[in-house]
Amino acid sequence: MLFKLTDEQKMIQNMVREFSRKVVAVKAAERDQTKEFPADNFKQMGELGLMGMMIPEAYGGESADTVSYVLALSEIAYSCASTSVVMSVQNSIVCESLYKFGTEDQKQRFLQPLACGEIIGAFGLTEPDAGSDPVSQTTTAVRDKDHFVINGTKRFITSGKHAKVVLVTAKTDPDAGHKGISCFIVPKGTKGLIVGHEEDKMGLRASDTTDLIFEDCRVPVSQMLGKEGDGFKIAMSGLDSGRIGIAAQSMGVAQAAFDAAVKYATKRRQFGVPIIKHQAIRFQIADMATQIEAARQLVFSAASMKDRKEPYTKEASIAKLFASEMVNEITARAIQIHGGYGFTKDYVVERLYRDARVFTIYEGTSEIQRIVISNHILKDKRKP
Ligand code: CAA
Repeated sequence: MLFKLTDEQKMIQNMVREFSRKVVAVKAAERDQTKEFPADNFKQMGELGLMGMMIPEAYGGESADTVSYVLALSEIAYSCASTSVVMSVQNSIVCESLYKFGTEDQKQRFLQPLACGEIIGAFGLTEPDAGSDPVSQTTTAVRDKDHFVINGTKRFITSGKHAKVVLVTAKTDPDAGHKGISCFIVPKGTKGLIVGHEEDKMGLRASDTTDLIFEDCRVPVSQMLGKEGDGFKIAMSGLDSGRIGIAAQSMGVAQAAFDAAVKYATKRRQFGVPIIKHQAIRFQIADMATQIEAARQLVFSAASMKDRKEPYTKEASIAKLFASEMVNEITARAIQIHGGYGFTKDYVVERLYRDARVFTIYEGTSEIQRIVISNHILKDKRKP
């Protein structure tokens, strides 16, 4: 491995690997069927410090670096992608946004219980008609004395049902484009915040994805996150970190599919030998290992840049683009190696293939990542 992990990073990786394979893996297949939210996993993950890893200990986190975080996240994804997506949204778009933009009071009230895993959080940006283009969102927040009144519908919200705190974006100045979007912290139980339709998804079935409806939802001015007009920036910077997380999840799911394929190919015999003896299979295994390793290096590279406090938007998008496309290919190849058995629910690769499908879509489609990457290349070229 090109990238050298520190002893502490290796220790975190080993600790989470053991927990993930002993605890998280146990009910992953069952939950894919029942859609039961893995609340017991999160309770234990909170105790292990996995729900706000990069947040300082003073606010309930672990003060871990991003490399340790991606190692942990990919180990959880290895066993259960539904559990890992909740961990990812919680750590990056929710906790990091609160830490970066929150007031001291907001950090004490909302970040602390989120970072130590007492409660789950959600981020509401997407709407029925505003996905890749969040500036076209139509949710509004209108000032009324010391409150904002929010109206609108958010869609595809990870943990919409189970979250106790929601960060939501809304237009405070509908004529000001991205500068007219603000962000608000809305605890569940606030009058006018309603959990709507829950999606019946192809994969990540144990993680809930819902509409969140805001009907004259009154939120005190003190619960605005950042300044008025900061909402788009908060979402974009949260997504930078989130995209490294999706890349890390891709790494974990791909590794699980790869390990399953190698195990199967070693046992399965055709034409008198284990199929791994056939060059057609060996070459596939070699290509898969190469792709996973390339993705791993991109993920570590983007995470290290973030840890060094260098700009990393482009590198996060590169890692997300490559790793999410890679895992779709790896899981498809793993099914191919399993032949007909891979098409059944008796083998884990069937679930991994379905879980991986959304990775090229959420937190910015592959097409959006290409826009971000090419915008940065053009911007860099214009620099003197
Ligand atoms: N960090 C901070 N600020 C940023 C930023 C970043 N990464 N990227 C852009 N900005 C700022 C810019 O500096 C600029 O601000 P100024 O005008 O003050 O300079 C402003 O935002 C606008 O920037 P752009 O002109 O580059 O933005 P754009 O409108 O051309 O395009 C986009 C932006 C890349 C297409 C963006 O809209 C985008 O990423 N779209 C995809 C949205 C997305 O990923 N949605 C997924 C939702 S979350 C989810 O999947 C659900 C879940 O729960 C998991």
